[in-house]
Amino acid sequence: MKIVCIGGGPAGLYFALLMKKLGPHHDITVVERNKPYDTFGWGVVFSDQTLDNMRQWDAETAAEVQQAFNHWDDIELHFKGRVIRSGGHGFVGIGRKKLLNILQARCEQLGVKLAFEQDADSDLDYPDADLIIASDGINSRVRNRLPEVFQPDIVTRPNRYIWLGTNRLYDAFTFLFEKTEHGWFQAHVYKFDEKTSTFIVECPEHVWLAHGLDKADQQQSIDFCEKLFASNLQGEKLMTNARHLRGSAWLNFQRVKCANWSHFNGNSHVVLMGDAVHTAHFAIGSGTKLALEDAIELVRQFKTLGDTADRIPQVLQKYQAVREIDVIRLQNAAWNAMEWFEVCGERYCDQLEPEQFMYSMLTRSQRISHENLRLRDKAWLEGYEAWFAGRTATPGARPPMFTPYTLRSVTLKNRVVVSPMAQYSAVDGRVGDYHLVHLGARAMGGAGLVMVEMTAPSADGRITHGCPGLWNDTHTADFKRITDWVHTQSDAKIGLQIGHAGPKGSTCRPWQGAGMDQPMAADDPEGNWPLLAASSQPYLPHGIVPQAMSRKDMDRVTADFVASTQRAAPAGFDWLELHCAHGYLLSSFISPLTNHRTDAYGGSLENRLRYPLEVFAAVRVAWPEHLPMSVRISAHDWVEGGITPADAVEIARAFKAAGADMIDCSSGQVSAKQKPTYGRMYQTPFADRIRQEAGIATIAVGAISEADHVNSILAAGRADLCAVARPHLANPAWTLTEAARIGFTDIAWPRAYVSGKSQLEAGFARERALQTATKGD
Ligand SMILES: Cc1cc2nc3c(=O)[nH]c(=O)nc-3n(C[C@H](O)[C@H](O)[C@H](O)COP(=O)(O)OP(=O)(O)OC[C@H]3O[C@@H](n4cnc5c(N)ncnc54)[C@H](O)[C@@H]3O)c2cc1C
Ligand SMILES: Cc1cc2nc3c(=O)[nH]c(=O)nc-3n(C[C@H](O)[C@H](O)[C@H](O)COP(=O)(O)O)c2cc1C
Repeated sequence: MKIVCIGGGPAGLYFALLMKKLGPHHDITVVERNKPYDTFGWGVVFSDQTLDNMRQWDAETAAEVQQAFNHWDDIELHFKGRVIRSGGHGFVGIGRKKLLNILQARCEQLGVKLAFEQDADSDLDYPDADLIIASDGINSRVRNRLPEVFQPDIVTRPNRYIWLGTNRLYDAFTFLFEKTEHGWFQAHVYKFDEKTSTFIVECPEHVWLAHGLDKADQQQSIDFCEKLFASNLQGEKLMTNARHLRGSAWLNFQRVKCANWSHFNGNSHVVLMGDAVHTAHFAIGSGTKLALEDAIELVRQFKTLGDTADRIPQVLQKYQAVREIDVIRLQNAAWNAMEWFEVCGERYCDQLEPEQFMYSMLTRSQRISHENLRLRDKAWLEGYEAWFAGRTATPGARPPMFTPYTLRSVTLKNRVVVSPMAQYSAVDGRVGDYHLVHLGARAMGGAGLVMVEMTAPSADGRITHGCPGLWNDTHTADFKRITDWVHTQSDAKIGLQIGHAGPKGSTCRPWQGAGMDQPMAADDPEGNWPLLAASSQPYLPHGIVPQAMSRKDMDRVTADFVASTQRAAPAGFDWLELHCAHGYLLSSFISPLTNHRTDAYGGSLENRLRYPLEVFAAVRVAWPEHLPMSVRISAHDWVEGGITPADAVEIARAFKAAGADMIDCSSGQVSAKQKPTYGRMYQTPFADRIRQEAGIATIAVGAISEADHVNSILAAGRADLCAVARPHLANPAWTLTEAARIGFTDIAWPRAYVSGKSQLEAGFARERALQTATKGD
């Protein structure tokens, strides 16, 4: 085959040499506009894993790289006058020039033609090529010529960064944070050869503008950075090797994705590779890794499917199918890490203490979990666990999940909450044996707090005929039976979630009809009831149209909430949560998607919050002062024009000002048009943001299914408690099970169950040992 690689960066060169190795008869040329050994940039990093991968494909190149690289294990943070270091992170740093030189030399050795100082206009310049690799970098001309074919999706990010070098040598991957009168700057620093370190300085756009750096030329920018990081640079200079760039050398990161990676241009097959087709932010330093691994995968496909011209279409198809999965995974992780650096100044730097800031930074991509950190550096993690536990006056190191939490007069023994879950099993609003068994089992299962499902303050506030209520003395007595049981038979606390279904009321139990939220038939023998909402808009198009609440309705419902709350204390509850989420009555006021009122209760967020805050204030007064109150909100409607996470911060601030102790950060279910992005811990970023920006304690909830998730969330300060719902349906003793799974044995079991404890612990210990042994094979 005749192959032309446009662009002699890591992608083009590495592909060329691997392909030549696979089939020495192939005629391969790399066209590069720069001179040999003339490139931008300082060092690049990639992980040990990338090098292992390279070793399998070309031992010679890997050996050269290994000779030239700088390996280090530690990450060091310089923050607020403190230096914190943790180990086990395993990075390889190498000069970009050095890497390219190794690849160029190996290409020449194998017979790849290198054509320097040739600027390719387009893929059409090489009509006799069977295959053209467009490895022409982030601004790829080949890609840009055919946007309708490749369908690039390019997002320009708000932070500014400048890529510099210094002769000060750092023996760890170092992160420096400095505050100026206008905001925070951070530097990502790592040594890549015996004389030089890469020094990338980054800050938000508004900080950059406030310092006038948009008007600064390169030298002025360097002078600024040298002054800012003077104490760390210890007299060393900062240097640029991008003098060829005109004007400011500060860049915005661009995230590139493409729907299609290849195309037939009439003569040749063209395929994008490396930065031309995808980029990953330097916060996880993986652009070069992606480029090298693209090259490996394409060669692997030629090796598997055949390296003849007729196989090219299948090879390219398979190449994209395989690669794009890995790329998306990495881009997602890079995106989280990038966002962390974009917001860290405002969100974390001022709020978190250095120990927790370090933890938050290390777990920024959400790919590294608590137990993963333990594997990397056990001593550091245990030190951090002891620091975290110490803040709750608990001696020694223990996983954050198993530290106590105190709010007002209530101390939870640990940080796990059984999230409220409707059971649709009440009769006339009454909870019975079903609920005693259901809640009792979960109270014995180890969680610190068991929340009862949404309970209505009036019969018309229920979701279904099977939902519980608290509006008469019988209801109080029924609940008292359960709370007494929980308090005498377990050391869990029990909370009530009080809520009015509003526009989502009068529906079938989920197993009765076509699923959740389905309206009852008009002639249902159990009987429908009229609905109330902020505005007369049904939740589902075929749902009952609710009545927009009058002031009189509001007064009546507020009085119901108060009366119900007055029953909740004698009913024995330790905790009260006001349900303002999921499109129910109070939520219907908050969201602009469901509130179209033109009075003082509609319009601005302030107006939309007015009624929910009135209810909250009335309930708070009726609830004993020594007991805590949380508010559940939908922190994101997942619909254009609905509540956003930024609004959620304002909502949380308003409830905080009204006396709420905690915000339980759920999302969605406000509009049937929602398009949530599900994934592990997918709502935790809302809890994190609200906690830092509104300065109020939070509960994280949603797809938290392992102790490792809980520990990572709490340790990073993303929430104060974690609510776990569905896993508790499968396993009432979820907390006890997870403790045993991670080898935490200092936890009390119900006394009659104790003989099961050591057996479960021993079983998990065997599993862990087996896993360790298998990894060692
Ligand atoms: C500040 C910063 C820090 C980074 N740090 C890291 C890091 O630590 N680790 C990491 O892995 N990655 C890092 N990267 C990313 C990394 O540099 C790229 O992801 C990687 O180089 C991509 O390789 P590539 O071969 O696809 O593209 P490039 O390396 O950009 O190579 C493209 C080549 O094509 C040539 N070219 C372009 N157009 C033409 C044309 N028309 N004709 C001829 N030649 C052409 C260019 O001159 C260039 O040599 C960083 C990037 C930045 C901006
Ligand atoms: C069966 C079921 C019933 C639920 N009922 C309620 C409820 O009454 N009140 C509430 O706020 N959330 C309710 N939820 C939502 C959960 O509390 C929780 O926020 C959601 O399931 C996400 O957590 P998970 O991923 O751990 O399941 C319910 C969820 C389930 C699965």
